[in-house]
Amino acid sequence: MTETGNKPTTTDAGILVASDEHSLTVGPDGPILLQDNYLIEQMANFNRERITERQPHAKGGGAFGKFVVTGDVSAYTKARVFQPKTETDMLIRFSSVAGERGSPDTWRDPRGFAVKFYTSDGNYDMVGNNTPVFFVRDPMKFQHFIRSQKRRADNNLRDNDMQWDFWTLSPESAHQVTWLMGDRGIPKTWRHMNGYSSHTYMWVNAEGEKFWVKYHFKTDQGIDFLTQEEADRLAGADNDYHTRDLYRAIERGDYPSWTLYVQIMPFAEAETYRFNPFDLTKVWPHGDYPLHEVGRMTLTANPTDYHTQIEQAAFEPNNLVPGIGPSPDKMLLARLFSYADAHRARLGVNYKQIPVNAPQVPVHSYSKDGVMRVAGVSDPVYAPNSKGGPHADTARFGEPAGWETSGEMVHAAYTKRRDDDDFIQAGTLVREVMDDAARERLVSNVAGHLSNGVTEPVLQRAFEYWRNVDKDIGDRIEKAVKSSG
Ligand code: NDP
Ligand code: HEM
Repeated sequence: MTETGNKPTTTDAGILVASDEHSLTVGPDGPILLQDNYLIEQMANFNRERITERQPHAKGGGAFGKFVVTGDVSAYTKARVFQPKTETDMLIRFSSVAGERGSPDTWRDPRGFAVKFYTSDGNYDMVGNNTPVFFVRDPMKFQHFIRSQKRRADNNLRDNDMQWDFWTLSPESAHQVTWLMGDRGIPKTWRHMNGYSSHTYMWVNAEGEKFWVKYHFKTDQGIDFLTQEEADRLAGADNDYHTRDLYRAIERGDYPSWTLYVQIMPFAEAETYRFNPFDLTKVWPHGDYPLHEVGRMTLTANPTDYHTQIEQAAFEPNNLVPGIGPSPDKMLLARLFSYADAHRARLGVNYKQIPVNAPQVPVHSYSKDGVMRVAGVSDPVYAPNSKGGPHADTARFGEPAGWETSGEMVHAAYTKRRDDDDFIQAGTLVREVMDDAARERLVSNVAGHLSNGVTEPVLQRAFEYWRNVDKDIGDRIEKAVKSSG
């Protein structure tokens, strides 16, 4: 037999097997024999095919592509990935947040927008969402927020009452909830939505000057969305609507692209800006900080094996390269720990050796051994050493991207500034960005959600919450809920 067309089946050890269809038995009607190694291997492998799904963001899909720098932001960052004309291979994974691996793609939810750049400085991960803000501003509340969006303990059902209970007791959620209940809460496809870093990051240039930045990946396909009715229909008709759309677009050569822009804030302005620029529940108005073009990301290749390339992909906000650093955003600082911890639990300590997670530069770390290590380790296995092992190049690394800080240890919210109000930007979104038709859909989406299992006192609190966003919208929501039921 030849390799082409008619490959012989083997065991995982490469040994020829006798049959794809029949187990080894004592006579055609007799019992199965324990020495049928292939049968046992097949059963054992099958029993171990599923790995733990991601806690949030379990349902998703992804693709490979290239990021090409088209602008010149070299005055703001020395990161090689963003130097003029640089081209970098990348991977993206889109996802929904609350649903499990088999859940419908068209549920109303934020969408994950996780990018891994395989840069010449090592892997850089930008783990963002399709929304520029988030529901909470302190990581202490993140776990509770996600639990409130998932399933109850008793009946294992999702529960709108639980969702609104959490949201109305967490007024900082108002901006993100307004965004979510508006048109962009259900994108038409992953190709028709933007991606945002949401967080503020630090950029450092070659001279060591520091800047604060926010990333905006704007879709070149144009923004488009599904109405609640369309999304509900698709959730039944095609559970995997977004996954299929991306795969088919790339398969037919209709490569989707996004243009990356950044907003840039001079380092010192963070101290005096009218609200805390690190608060994840707020955007920086474009009028104050306009967009600067960086480059274009184009997706050109589908995965060939979903499990090893997408399910086992591990994105982590702590993968930051020289020229890019974190900011004092407390959510971001907690995320720097959380993701790698999740990967060690989900994929094992050596998850960075899975090819999709491995950098395209040589690795000279002192990590050693552990479950599923496949890359060889060589002596010396310790540092410092005088045996020719790797040593840190402090001069080339430069100073870490940091900031000065001091103070008592406290459990406290960010210090309030002039415009640090939970409802201001949500109100702007409703009044100045949405038009009449979009506001009408917002009222209908919220009223539909509140009419489905939300009980007192949560319901009353929800009407107040919306009146705080906008008096007229709150009144209309209350009227619509009361007239529906
Ligand atoms: P701008 O008028 O300069 O920007 C408005 C932004 O709103 C644009 O980025 C636009 O995106 C986006 N947008 C349009 N329709 C919707 C919608 N239905 N849901 C969510 N976003 C939408 O004003 P400002 O920068 O002063 O921001 C005003 C408000 O716009 C903010 O309070 C915030 O709620 C929202 N917004 C602001 C963003 C920012 O980074 N400044 C980013 C996204 C939203 P596009 O350009 O793609 O049409
Ligand atoms: C996934 C934690 C906030 C975007 C995850 C996962 C964890 C997590 C544990 C699963 C990782 C895995 O198993 O692979 C947290 C914590 C947060 C937080 C602790 C706040 C304190 C955010 C925010 C964003 C975000 C603000 C967007 C700006 C994502 C995305 C994924 C994800 C896109 C999926 C990544 C992928 O495609 O594999 N998060 N998260 N998260 N999170 Fe967060």
